[in-house]
Amino acid sequence: MAAASAADSSSFAEKSSIKSRTMLGDGSYTLATKGCFDVIANAMDIADSALDAVEMPSGRHFVLADYGTADGGTSIDLVSRVIGKVRERTSADQEVIVLYEDIPTNPFGPLFQMTQGMLALPGGRTSFLAKHPTGVFVHAVGTSFYRQCAPTGTVDFGMSFTAMHWTSAVPCPIPGTLHSVMAPEEVRARYAAQSGADWAKILEQRAKEMRPGARLIMANFCVDDKGCYLGYTTPHGGPSANMHGLFAKHWAELRDSGRITAEEFDATNFPQHYRTVDEFKAPLEDETSAAHRLGLRLETIETRRTPCPFATAWANGEYSSPEAFAKDYVPTLRSWSTSVFVSGLSESRPVEERNAIVEEFWGKYEAAAAADPAAHGMDYIHAFIVVRKESA
Ligand SMILES: C[S@@+](CC[C@H](N)C(=O)[O-])C[C@H]1O[C@@H](n2cnc3c(N)ncnc32)[C@H](O)[C@@H]1O
Repeated sequence: MAAASAADSSSFAEKSSIKSRTMLGDGSYTLATKGCFDVIANAMDIADSALDAVEMPSGRHFVLADYGTADGGTSIDLVSRVIGKVRERTSADQEVIVLYEDIPTNPFGPLFQMTQGMLALPGGRTSFLAKHPTGVFVHAVGTSFYRQCAPTGTVDFGMSFTAMHWTSAVPCPIPGTLHSVMAPEEVRARYAAQSGADWAKILEQRAKEMRPGARLIMANFCVDDKGCYLGYTTPHGGPSANMHGLFAKHWAELRDSGRITAEEFDATNFPQHYRTVDEFKAPLEDETSAAHRLGLRLETIETRRTPCPFATAWANGEYSSPEAFAKDYVPTLRSWSTSVFVSGLSESRPVEERNAIVEEFWGKYEAAAAADPAAHGMDYIHAFIVVRKESA
């Protein structure tokens, strides 16, 4: 009884932030997020070493889980690679379950269509089912990763990319700006506390699901030792504009011109936190944490920058005009943040009006990108983390 009511209340708390983090459906997520392919490509060496350390099954199927998968397009090469390596080390007909996990509102339809070759993947990619048509089973679970998503002790190898920065609840408003990374220290501390509790919960659930000896590789947004984060990498020689700074600037222009109200500006915030390396390590090193008690251990953690592919293409002279760059670049920002801006607007406005306001906002962003393409780009900064479940 007590467990059921605890689960219910956590699900209720998540509802406030869940609608602001739903990805665009119908495969457009994958089409607009070239950079996420690069992030996963940037993790291949880490994934290979982690998989090498996993004991292969004997007389049973292998379970590969992808947490926070979106439409499954961006991880398709890595999933393919893992299946290939597992079959090399076992047999050509080794059975594999690919367990795709995401929130209940995720576009699972496009995921099934992509994996089954009914929706095109960028770059002429093909689904792993083309190469492995039998014995590979695509399953999906529409349950938040704050909960247990697979039976106890069943996952052999897990992966999760760019998914664990959303907080399960909004700890407090963010005065004057939209993201905790730009907020005053006392606000950042509230987001860090929420995000610390969330991270401990995420790890506890994975610790339950993982088979002893299993590995889980994650690439999560972070703030690195130079103070850099998604869309701000100037100290690494990246673009000079700060993406979150520009979000706040252009949204504030709409407030100052009276297009949106001050209340709407204040109600717009990203329920996110970019953790530091120390914040990632905390529950893995704390012997009293639930994850640690369940046998979860940190193997490796390092930060890496993945350059923005659109900024790279601009620098290489691949665009015919600044406008062409801006038109190509801005959809990658829109794919994950549009829902945050729409959610900030009053529900008393008709939906069409809310969408029109957000279009105006993107128009401003696009104009700024076209005015100075070299200043723009969304470089990624991730912590690449490998954890293992202690063998029994
Ligand atoms: C930026 S996308 C990344 C998708 C894909 N992993 C990639 O690297 O391209 C973030 C994904 O995390 C998912 N996500 C966010 N919070 C989640 C939660 N609590 N449980 C499961 N998935 C979540 C979102 O729905 C979204 O599909």
